[in-house]
Amino acid sequence: MVKNFLNTGNPRNLSWVFTLITCFLLIINCLLFYFIDLSLVIWIVILIFEIICIYFLNKKLIIRFIYDKIRLIYKNIATKRLGDDKQPIQEWVKGDVLNRVQQDVERWLELKNVEIATLKELENFRKDFLANVSHELKTPLTTLQGYIDTLIDGAVADPDVNMKYLQRSSFTIERMITMVEDLETITKLEQNTDPLHITKFDFITLVKEVIDIMELKANTRNIQMIIQNHTSAPLYVLADKEKIRQVLINLIDNSIKYGRQSGKTFIKIYYFEQNLLIEIEDNGIGIDEEHLQRIFERFYRVDKSRSREVGGTGLGLAIVKHIIEAHDQHINVRSKVGIGTTFTFTLPLAN
Ligand SMILES: Nc1ncnc2c1ncn2[C@@H]1O[C@H](COP(=O)(O)OP(=O)(O)OP(=O)(O)O)[C@@H](O)[C@H]1O
Ligand SMILES: [Mg+2]
Repeated sequence: MVKNFLNTGNPRNLSWVFTLITCFLLIINCLLFYFIDLSLVIWIVILIFEIICIYFLNKKLIIRFIYDKIRLIYKNIATKRLGDDKQPIQEWVKGDVLNRVQQDVERWLELKNVEIATLKELENFRKDFLANVSHELKTPLTTLQGYIDTLIDGAVADPDVNMKYLQRSSFTIERMITMVEDLETITKLEQNTDPLHITKFDFITLVKEVIDIMELKANTRNIQMIIQNHTSAPLYVLADKEKIRQVLINLIDNSIKYGRQSGKTFIKIYYFEQNLLIEIEDNGIGIDEEHLQRIFERFYRVDKSRSREVGGTGLGLAIVKHIIEAHDQHINVRSKVGIGTTFTFTLPLAN
């Protein structure tokens, strides 16, 4: 229809009309493209329309026109205004990619910030740990120096005093050795340098062995250790026997140290589904609610002077927790001041 109309008109006039239309479209195009973020598709649609117009004006001009137009598009895109700044074509064309890169960088930054926070926390923990270790070692070393100085200053000549001081020195050294061993254990557990040696063993036999080891200590406070088991059959578990022995020693040791004079320590064993539930219960001093959640921390002691008196450095429960969790099991505590404390942990039964 357009062609008919054009064919019927005066060629000179028509040329002017097409020229005007094309110029008009070009201006509109440029304005639209410059001020509004039109997509390239709309631009090309307009371009095609212009080409149709020019086709009627002068076919020979088409190639030249397309060439010029593409150059113009490129130039327009290259200087396309984004906000107030003229940005190079790469930024416009690659805007999406850059956005993604920016998002990646932001995510990476977030991750790094978390890592930095964790490292700071670890650094603080390391500082606290070192301060605790040096403090805990300094105390017995000072005591030891005191005994030795007293002996040098003349007490060595007195047979009653020298024996007492030598025995105390020996006890102090023993405590230091235990502490260094505990520190070694905790470091190995944390660094996973001492993997678990899982075997199948009878848990009841192990408990009896531990009771034998602890008997002497329990007798010093006249504490009775009682096993409460609901079956006489062996109860086989899958665990690292030596480490579980250490768990039992630490928990029973606590029940004796913080238990009531002439009191009782119960070792109660329950089994359900695929697990054993073990409870170490005493009727001792108990632990106040505010301390209960912290007693598994290294060096944490409710009453430092009392713990020191009974030879505690506050590492026992941290080791116990590490061992139980390394077995993918759980440990809990419940306590009432003046009534007693119960530690509960689980172990997997062997099939
Ligand atoms: N059965 C318990 N009754 C009362 N308080 C307890 C009991 N077990 C632990 N606690 C408290 O928790 C603290 C931490 O116990 P943990 O076994 O870690 O250290 P410790 O016994 O003092 O020293 P270590 O075990 O290193 O010789 C103890 O100092 C004590 O205050
Ligand atoms: Mg302990």
